[in-house]
Amino acid sequence: QPRDAYSIAVIGGDGIGPEVVAEGLKVLDAVTGQGGPKFATTDYDLGARRWHATGETLPDSVLEELRGHDAILLGAIGDPSVPSGVLERGVLLPLRFALDHYVNLRPAKLFPGVASPLDVARVAPDGIDFVVVREGTEGPYTGNGGALRVGTPAEIATEVSVNTRFGVERVVRDAFARAAARPRKHLTLVHKHNVLTYAGHLWRRTVEEVGVEFPEVETAYQHVDAATIFLATDPGRFDVIVTDNLFGDIITDIAAAIAGGIGLAASGNINPARTTPSMFEPVHGSAPDIAGQSKADPTAAILSVGMLLAHLGLDAEAERVDAAVAADLAERGTAARSTTAVGDAIADRL
Ligand code: NAI
Ligand code: MG
Repeated sequence: QPRDAYSIAVIGGDGIGPEVVAEGLKVLDAVTGQGGPKFATTDYDLGARRWHATGETLPDSVLEELRGHDAILLGAIGDPSVPSGVLERGVLLPLRFALDHYVNLRPAKLFPGVASPLDVARVAPDGIDFVVVREGTEGPYTGNGGALRVGTPAEIATEVSVNTRFGVERVVRDAFARAAARPRKHLTLVHKHNVLTYAGHLWRRTVEEVGVEFPEVETAYQHVDAATIFLATDPGRFDVIVTDNLFGDIITDIAAAIAGGIGLAASGNINPARTTPSMFEPVHGSAPDIAGQSKADPTAAILSVGMLLAHLGLDAEAERVDAAVAADLAERGTAARSTTAVGDAIADRL
């Protein structure tokens, strides 16, 4: 139910994160400007700077404060000055796990006027417009593993994929509901159940069983390796894809690439039960190679703001953001524009 006022936690993070988030907030301001709902934002300093200054990643007190907001807008976390894994395992994953973001929603839509590396007229004459529902709290990302004899020739490392009936069922049910609400009503399970038989058959059976509740939704199955072929050769076949945490991470980078590039790919870490704030962020990372140069494309962050608005039930505002982005993309051409110029152009349309 839409309200008059919302509080948003803002985590700019590292590298280009704060740059693109600033443009997302500019667009949020513009779309909610006159007479719309009020958005109060609170900045949280998380990421490389905080870790260098205090050694902290995600303090409990910050996590508790974050729980008090209606939603979270995140830029990116990760910096070459911090050992790989410290911030990813210390900030990003704990947020997704603690806030039970079990749906990682990643739309892949090729907007008119946007170039794809694919010959779209040939491989997807009806366009590219699908959404990946990636499981966000289980799989190989839970930190269920360990290492022995590290650095020796006898080193052992395990990284166990965790799959629970509860966790698979809730994300599969969410994916079916999304498919049922879309015109094509089609759901593809992507896994690897010919080899990963324990987890794979749990996913397969769960899709079959939950599917009984959604007779209007047609289902399909692809092994993940074959799915990468079809994402490149026949992406128009996909409508909703449901998959585990790792497969979803990988195929959504391919999805971003075919749908116009990582600068356009938005995502939501969603708790559909709404017991915690959901978190919206561009799929890309902190892009240290272009940080501080105003070269980052803020479109993914802006589209993530659109997803945030939709999650809060502000559908009209969300549609206006999408339309403004679509209009900008249609006229964008190839001339380079700064991060702020893109944000200004989209905000001006609102
Ligand atoms: P990345 O997404 O940061 O960059 C990959 C390539 O895409 C780079 O060449 C970069 O310049 C380009 N790129 C990314 N976003 C762009 C944008 N908005 N506009 C134009 N070009 C853009 O991925 P990478 O290099 O693997 O990771 C860099 C850091 O970000 C690492 O520390 C990684 O762990 C972290 N990361 C964080 C994520 C998050 O916070 N959710 C997601 C992915 C990576
Ligand atoms: Mg990724």
